[in-house]
This record gives sequence, structure tokens and C-alpha cells, in this order.
Amino acid sequence: MHHFDYRDGRLYAEDVDVTALADAVGAPFYVYSEATLRRHMQVFQKAFAGADPLVAFSVKANSNLAVLKILASEGAGADVVSGGELQRALKAGIAPEKIVFSGVGKTRDEMKAALDAGIYQFNVESAPELDALNTLALSLNKRAPVALRVNPDVAAGGHDKISTGRKEDKFGVAWEEARGLYAQARDMKGIDVTGVDLHIGSQIADLAPFEAAFSKTAGLISDLRADGCTIERLDVGGGLGIPYGNTAAPPHPDAYAALIKKLTAPLDVRLIFEPGRMIAGNAGILVTRVVFVKEGVARKFLIVDAAMNDLIRPALYDAHHDIIPVIKNEDAAQTTYDVVGPVCESSDFFAKQRAMPEMKPGDLAAIMSAGAYGAVQASQYNTRPLIPEVLVSGERYAVIRRRPSFEEMIALEDTPDWL
Ligand code: LLP
Repeated sequence: MHHFDYRDGRLYAEDVDVTALADAVGAPFYVYSEATLRRHMQVFQKAFAGADPLVAFSVKANSNLAVLKILASEGAGADVVSGGELQRALKAGIAPEKIVFSGVGKTRDEMKAALDAGIYQFNVESAPELDALNTLALSLNKRAPVALRVNPDVAAGGHDKISTGRKEDKFGVAWEEARGLYAQARDMKGIDVTGVDLHIGSQIADLAPFEAAFSKTAGLISDLRADGCTIERLDVGGGLGIPYGNTAAPPHPDAYAALIKKLTAPLDVRLIFEPGRMIAGNAGILVTRVVFVKEGVARKFLIVDAAMNDLIRPALYDAHHDIIPVIKNEDAAQTTYDVVGPVCESSDFFAKQRAMPEMKPGDLAAIMSAGAYGAVQASQYNTRPLIPEVLVSGERYAVIRRRPSFEEMIALEDTPDWL
């Protein structure tokens, strides 16, 4: 469910006419819908009503401060993976007691910042990381609350590059080694063992991998308790997929919730979730303008002004995003395009051999489901400025990240005096 719909053939973001927005802001740009973000957060929380879980939004999916502030006001915590994301979460008003810190390569500086802030939990991914955190915490006279991220060796996720819970992935502590490492953690004076953490992948389209992973967890938790570890929390990560328009819709959060509740009810743990895409994905679109239509010998190219540096998902994961005209032309003939950007790479495409209505230069198109892993993965490749992010709320809109000037783009560069 989202709030990007046609009214009399014109695409609206909530009550804002997207064409008017493009005139005001200049294409290309991202648009996020506040109502959609709130709704997704509420749907998730409602699915677990009564269980008092921590819903820690995965900041990597969309880290814009305004977006974080909206989610914070809905009660969200944050799952962060860097010192920068930690600072963003705190700046957006998310309480440290609602922040968990994931990631395989936390630096000492990042760990210190998180310890100083007093975050809820470190999700620790290896023996050396545990050791470093213990040493640091002791030197600061603190105890770090820790869950070990265990790797259940389950294949899950929409693409090889976003699967994380298999043996060969870099994430987590191997299942066979978890019990031993927990025993070490239990005896470390700088570590407070609080729970178990898993995250098995992203854009997961069915419940089976969750079931496989979480049913393994029950046994582990009872072993750990038998070993004298305090296991009060279970962080089940994120990963629930969203509809992108090309496949059957992934399970509804209610079905996901029913499964998790069934599997975790006997465990007597506080649940932590780290949803990212499910909250932000369909709350955003990328609006782009057609520059040229190029009739190639083998293919017809719709060349638009957005590119892989703005939204890299198709180039990186062969991801599908629906692409729709911002103004519907009922008389337009159907055709087949490769929708491509201006960047000098063959991988700079948004769609290949896509059946869609004919468009002409100057027309606007909306690339759907771009609210997660869109702007956050953008770069300035080809010295293209990062594109604006716009928030709509009812009839209002605000630019929540503006387009930098050329001077701002090069402001961090310096030419040595020998040149
Ligand atoms: N927790 C951890 C530890 C994660 O690594 C991730 C995502 C999440 C939570 C949130 O997962 P979600 O609910 O959003 O699936 N750039 C890729 C996705 C990478 C996901 C990385 N980890 C894409 O555009 O599809």
C-alpha cells in the first residue's frame, strides 16, 4: 500500500501533483510519502501488538534525517551499521536505548561512540570483534550489551548479492562455533550477554527461510541458557520483501508476524526487528524526465535524465522497478524500450526490453519502489550531482535534501601546490 496514485491521468504523491513538483524542483528527484512511511511502520507494529518488540528501522535503507524523524515519531528505533548512521539516528531523536549496532567491521572509534551513547545492543559478528569490544569496554569502565549474530546457514534473499545467512557469507558467527563463543562472552567482564541475533538476507519473498532459520534458534537458545548465558532478547533482523511489480507479492507482515510469534512464543524473549525495505521501499519513487528516444538497430532506447549513480539497483542486482508515465496518455501506443540513463556504462539501465506506453522527450516517468536502497546508494559518478529528496505530506511538500551546486560537489578536493 502506498500513496502514489493517478488522479484524472496525472500521478500524485499523496495530494501533490508530481508534474508540478518536477517543475518546482527539477528532475530527476526522489519523492517520499510521509503517510506511507507512517502506515508501514504502523502495520508492522500492529502485527506485533501486545508483544512490545523493538522495531529498529534499518537506517541503511533510507537514512534521510526527515525520514528517520518520521519513523522515530512512530516509535521506531534504529539498526545502524556505522558511526555515521549512529549519529544520524541520534540526531533524528531516536533514543540510544532503541539503537542496535550491526556490521562485521565496527572500528574502535565507532564502538566507543556507541558505548558513550549507551546504545541498546551491539550485534557482534566475530571472535576478534568480541575481544576488541570487551577490551574497549573495560578500558572505559563499561559493559557492552551484546548479542552474537549467528549464521544459521540458510539461503534467503532476492539475489545472490543480498543473501547473508549462508556459511559462505561473511556475516555472523558460524552455527557450530556460536556456543563456544557465547561461553567466552559470558565470562568477559566488559560484556553483558543479552541475546541472540540473526539476519538472513533481504527481499525475501516467502516465509520458508525465516521458518528454517528461526526454528533452529529455539534449540540454540535453550543450549545457551543451559550454559549459564542470559538470553533475554532475540533480534530477528530484517529481510521481508516488498512487491516490486514483477513477481507475486511477498507475504504480508501479518503472515510474517504470525510465523515469528508462533516460533518465538515459547522462548520468553523480547523481540527486536530490523526492517528496512518493508518500511521505506514503496514509500518512495524516483521521478525522471525523458531526454531522448533513440531508435537503435536492435533496440529502442528511452534515455532518461536519471542514471545508475542515482539508483543502482537494476545495474547491481538486476532489480526490477516498475516504470510508469507521470501523465497517462490513453492514446499512446504500447512499445518496448530499454530504459537507460546518460552514464557511460552499459550497466546504466533501469529496465531492459520493457513493454510500456510510448513516451517522448520532455515526458516525466516515475521509477517505482525506490524509497529503500535508492538515494542511500547514490554516488556522484560522472560528476552528476546527488539528486534532491522531496517529502510530501498531504498537500505539502519540502525538499529534505537539496541538489548540491558544482562548487559544493568539488568542495572537498584540493590541488597540491606543485601543480
Ligand atoms: N539488518 C541487517 C543486519 C542488514 O544487513 C539489513 C540489510 C537489514 C537489517 C535490513 O534488511 P531489509 O529489511 O531492508 O531487507 N542494497 C540491497 C539490499 C541490501 C541489504 C543489506 N542488509 C538492495 O538494494 O536490494
